[in-house]
Amino acid sequence: MNNIDGISTDKIVHEYGSPIFVVSATTLKTNLRVFREEFSKKYPRVVVAYSYKTNYLSGILDIIHKEGAWAEVASGFEYDLARLLGVPGNTVVFNGPYKKKEELKKASKEGALINVDHLDELKILEEIASELERTLEIGIRININVGVHQLPDRFGFNLDSGEAIQIVRRCVENKLLRIIGLHIHLTSYIIEPDHEENTIPARRINLIWPKSPNLYRTAAENVVWFANEIREKFAVNIRYIDMGGGFPTIDLLNSYVDAVVYSILNGFKSELPILILEPGRAIVKNAMHLITTIVDVKEMADGKRRMVIDAGTNLLPTSLWELQEIEYLVDSKSGLKETIVYGPLCLQTDIIAKTKLPELKAGDKLIIKNVGAYNFSQSSSFIFPRPCVLLIENESVKVSRKAETVDDIFKFETL
Ligand SMILES: Cc1ncc(COP(=O)(O)O)c(C=O)c1O
Repeated sequence: MNNIDGISTDKIVHEYGSPIFVVSATTLKTNLRVFREEFSKKYPRVVVAYSYKTNYLSGILDIIHKEGAWAEVASGFEYDLARLLGVPGNTVVFNGPYKKKEELKKASKEGALINVDHLDELKILEEIASELERTLEIGIRININVGVHQLPDRFGFNLDSGEAIQIVRRCVENKLLRIIGLHIHLTSYIIEPDHEENTIPARRINLIWPKSPNLYRTAAENVVWFANEIREKFAVNIRYIDMGGGFPTIDLLNSYVDAVVYSILNGFKSELPILILEPGRAIVKNAMHLITTIVDVKEMADGKRRMVIDAGTNLLPTSLWELQEIEYLVDSKSGLKETIVYGPLCLQTDIIAKTKLPELKAGDKLIIKNVGAYNFSQSSSFIFPRPCVLLIENESVKVSRKAETVDDIFKFETL
C-alpha cells in the first residue's frame, strides 16, 4: 500500500509532512451505500443515522450527510454540530446519558428523535412537555440480557426487571410523553479478560469485534416482543425501532441484516416500524489511515527489537486497548522480526503495535491502517499537537483539517 486511493504516500508526506491522517472519500461512500442497501433490500423502511462520536471530522460528516445519512448524536455539543452542518433537527437521533434541559427543549422543538436514557431525563422531558403545553413524542432506550454478561445495563431501562414497562405505564398515565420508539445498542464490542501475562493494565482485556449476529437476533426479538406487549397492554404504537450500532464491516454484514430484519418482519404485529441503524465503526474504520515515520530503531539487550514512530496514543488512543495494524512500504522482508512499535510519548503505555517488521531505519514510513473509528475523536494534544488530516476524493487531495499549532492550543488560555 504505497498509495492511498491512487495518491502516493511519499508524495503526501513530502507535501504535507508526517504524521498525517488520510481519509478516503470513496471508501466512506461505498461503506455507507452498501450498508444501507444491505438492509433496504430486505426491509422497506430503513434510516441510517451515522454515529458522530466515532469520528466527527466535518469533511467526513459532510460526505456522509450528502449520501443521505441522518446524524446520531450523544450530547448537546454533537447535536449543535449537526445543526451547524445544516442537518435538519428532524433527521437527528439524540442519544446519550447526559442531555441538558435546554438541549432537550431545543431538540424537542426542532423535531429530533430523542431516545430517553434514564428516569431523571424522563422527568426533565415531562417538565418540558408541561412548559410547552403539548405531549412530546419520545423513544426510550432499553437494555436486555442477550446472554453476554459483559454487556452493560447502565444505559436505558431494563426489560427483564420490569423497569421498562413501568416507564411505559408512567408515560401512558400522565400523558405528557408519548413513546413512539424503542432503542437498543449492544455496545461497540464485547470485552473479555485477557490472560496474557505481563500486559499493561489497560490491555488485560480483549475486545471482541464484531460480536455474533445471534446477539442482534436475541435483541431484536426482545424489542419486537416488547413493542407487541405495550401495544396490547397500553395501546402504545411503536413507530421506530432503533437497533443502535456495533455492526461489522460491510463484507460481513449479511447475517446481521438477516438477524435484525427477519426478527421484525416475522414478529411485529402491526404496521412495520421504521428501522433505524446507528453504525459508526462499520462506516469509518477502514476509511482513514495514518502515515507515520520511524524515528528510531533499537535492538534491545534481550534480543528484541523496538522502534519509535512519530505518532502515539495521543493520536491513536484506541491503541491503549487494541493494537494497530501496520503496513511497511519496503519490498524486502529481510530481517523480518517481532517488533514493538512505540509512539513518541514519554509513557510506558505508548505502544501502537506488536508485529513482525523487516529491517527498517529512521526516516522510513509506515502506514497504520484502518484507524478511522474512535481515534481522532478521542485524540488529544498531549505532548504533541494534532497533525493535518487529508481527504482524498476523485484522486484529488484536500486538507480536511489543518495541523494544530502552539497558538491554536493556547488560544483558549486566558492567564
Ligand atoms: C448509542 C450508540 N449508537 C451507535 C454507536 C456506534 O457504534 P459502532 O461504532 O460500534 O457502530 C455507539 C457507540 O458506542 C453508541 O453508543
